[in-house]
Amino acid sequence: MPTLTRRALAAGTALLLLSGAALAQAPIVIKFSHVVAPDTPKGRGADKFKELAEKYTGGKVKVEVYPNSQLFKDKEEVEALQLGAVQMLAPSLAKFGPLGAKEFEVFDLPYILPDKAALRRVTDGALGKRLFDKLQTKGITGLAYWDNGFKVMSANKPLRMPADFRGLKMRIQSSKVLEAQFRALGAIPQVMAFSEVYQGMQTGVVDGSENTPSNMFTQKHHEVQKYVTLSDHGYIGYAVITNKKFWDGLPAEIRTELDKAMKEATVYANEVADKDNAEALDEMKKSGKTTFVTLTADEKAAWKAALEPVTADMAKRVGKDVIEEFQKEAKGGTQ
Ligand code: LMR
Repeated sequence: MPTLTRRALAAGTALLLLSGAALAQAPIVIKFSHVVAPDTPKGRGADKFKELAEKYTGGKVKVEVYPNSQLFKDKEEVEALQLGAVQMLAPSLAKFGPLGAKEFEVFDLPYILPDKAALRRVTDGALGKRLFDKLQTKGITGLAYWDNGFKVMSANKPLRMPADFRGLKMRIQSSKVLEAQFRALGAIPQVMAFSEVYQGMQTGVVDGSENTPSNMFTQKHHEVQKYVTLSDHGYIGYAVITNKKFWDGLPAEIRTELDKAMKEATVYANEVADKDNAEALDEMKKSGKTTFVTLTADEKAAWKAALEPVTADMAKRVGKDVIEEFQKEAKGGTQ
């Protein structure tokens, strides 16, 4: 063989060996996409998971976090996960209905959760597990439940009594329960992606919305809404999900480390949630850009009375058994 050919062959083999070694060391990439700001409970949870997952796997896994709908908006997110374009998401529980997992909308029922202790009993209990089992047939594995918090209501007029909602266009997430909630108040619900709400409010496409203080503050909704009612009428939380095929295909020892990272990130995210919401509320109050409305006992009772029929009306969709199990577990009983 001529020397030149021999040298070329040797160089080629060296190159192949090099790229083989590089490939063997290439980290597994997890793209974690979400729609909120980094300084929110979900944003912090995602960043904590990244930190711990990379640490526990010694860099064998790289987590890329994409906040603020950088990659996908609400509706597109889950499709992207099912197609494998991203590996991890934490959509709000209100966004699982359009996927055919209507039972998740039980979390949207007005006043169904008295407090976070009740919430934890449900998410850590049999129902929390049953809901995750439902996702498997859709190619999705549920990994954890993460908190945000209780919702406040905003508009350009003070919302004190149900009659104040009449005719208002209120932005909602894509949940039939939330749709029914606003109809019960006499408002006109409008589904809109989270990333579009600020502009929707600014241009008057919607008159108001509901959200947690941390979401409202980080999206600057308080700058384009004159009033915020401290109603605590419902809850927003998340299911951290992954592509089932991707997850099942991971080496077992990597999955063990990621499970550990997820467990710890969950504790962290749930710990910071209350603090984040309290601070966001304080910041909005300090800004003086919106006026806060505190409901009297009578006004609260009027909201509750107006919203009470929603639970019975939605039983067909969400499942009577699901609602009853939820209420029982929330109270501390088991099925
Ligand atoms: C919304 O769409 O209003 C929120 O649920 C967004 C989020 O993920 O918190």
